[in-house]
Amino acid sequence: MPTSADLHRRRGAAVARGVSSMIPSYVSTAAGGTMTDVDGRGWIDFGSGIAVTNVGNAAPKVVEAVRAQVERFTHTCFMIAPYEQYVAVCEQLAELTPGDFEKRSALFNSGAEAVENAVKIARHATGRQAVVVFDHAYHGRTNLTMALTAKVMPYKHGFGPFAGEIYRVAMSYPLRDGRGGADAAAYAIGQIEKHVGATDVAAVLIEPIQGEGGFVVPAAGFLPALAAWSRQAGAVFIADEIQTGFCRTGSWFACEDEGVEPDLITTAKGIAGGLPLAAVTGRAEIMDAVHPGGLGGTYGGNPVACAAALATIETMRELDLAAAARRIAEVALPRLHALAAKHPQIAEVRGRGAMLALELVRPGESGPDGPVPDPAATAAVAKAAHGLGLLLLTCGTYGNVIRLLPPLVIADDELDRGLSLLEQAFEALTDTTTPGAGK
Ligand SMILES: Cc1ncc(COP(=O)(O)O)c(C=O)c1O
Repeated sequence: MPTSADLHRRRGAAVARGVSSMIPSYVSTAAGGTMTDVDGRGWIDFGSGIAVTNVGNAAPKVVEAVRAQVERFTHTCFMIAPYEQYVAVCEQLAELTPGDFEKRSALFNSGAEAVENAVKIARHATGRQAVVVFDHAYHGRTNLTMALTAKVMPYKHGFGPFAGEIYRVAMSYPLRDGRGGADAAAYAIGQIEKHVGATDVAAVLIEPIQGEGGFVVPAAGFLPALAAWSRQAGAVFIADEIQTGFCRTGSWFACEDEGVEPDLITTAKGIAGGLPLAAVTGRAEIMDAVHPGGLGGTYGGNPVACAAALATIETMRELDLAAAARRIAEVALPRLHALAAKHPQIAEVRGRGAMLALELVRPGESGPDGPVPDPAATAAVAKAAHGLGLLLLTCGTYGNVIRLLPPLVIADDELDRGLSLLEQAFEALTDTTTPGAGK
């Protein structure tokens, strides 16, 4: 078998430079909460392939369902010859997503595609064009979703021109705006009314907890206020639960924590245990506003991905993975707070369930946007963690957030070991050039 070094050399001559990888190790196998690379090195997985393998890598029921489905048929295209698995996934989505009203779903391949379609549907249903998004938002890398995404480097730099009729307003970011939820919502709503006008808004699109933007948890009351304003304005309130969904935050969907019932909800990532599938689910009258044939795509709702989704959902129910996410928080949070007490670079420990984060700043320094971010220290910790065998992801507009996204099935001893490696990785801060580091 080729080594990681061999594969890295081959990659340089064959794979586009724009597609980068966090670690230079190549995967041989992965199961549950661990991974082994082709050099025989073991890893604890605190990333779940960016919040995808919530049920664990190669989850037994998913493997079995995929195997059974590929033996029956691999593809017909639902727009040509439909099949039960697609319908069954839509039934499950209607049952699991917040809101006790009639719903419809449409299936796609990726999160970005789901977001694009949610915007298409909202525009069609309202006859309006403006889409409101937030600071630090991440919604994907296609042309429309690049415009919806906030961060320029690496997602948007040099890739314009971008789609029009997108308006960005302030996100509730308690560490940096110091506002309560109601105040932050009033400020954002003021911006919308000033710059767009309530009667022109087709959709308000928001991640209930921001993902790539830094695991930003809005202050309590922010989301319900925006949802209420949207309803009053006749705009579609879209929750992008692509990263937060499917038990990640300790509920099936993060909106549930504040009793928010979005008009439309986008899902992907955790929905199918690692197979590519995404969905838009929402109020029947909004979803069905689109004419027949207006939505679709060759692979959307592929039968193998749908079979995987049904097995994933069954696994989540059987193992009560929402409770498992809450338990991960119970175990991890005290240790993360202890780590923050030891390292002044950690300005905040935040998150919900198994979506947890540490924001790193330069201690004692303040800038126009609050505490001064420390991306160098963040990168140093992540690099040290990788050296120790812990797959650890970073995120944030300023690249200064360490995020924890373990699979929800992670074994107790794996979680314990992963947290110990994270604690060890923080020792790297004593060696960085960051002023004040390790004091
Ligand atoms: C909240 C959110 N929306 C959309 C996307 C885009 O999903 P995909 O990468 O599957 O296109 C992501 C991916 O990270 C995400 O976190």
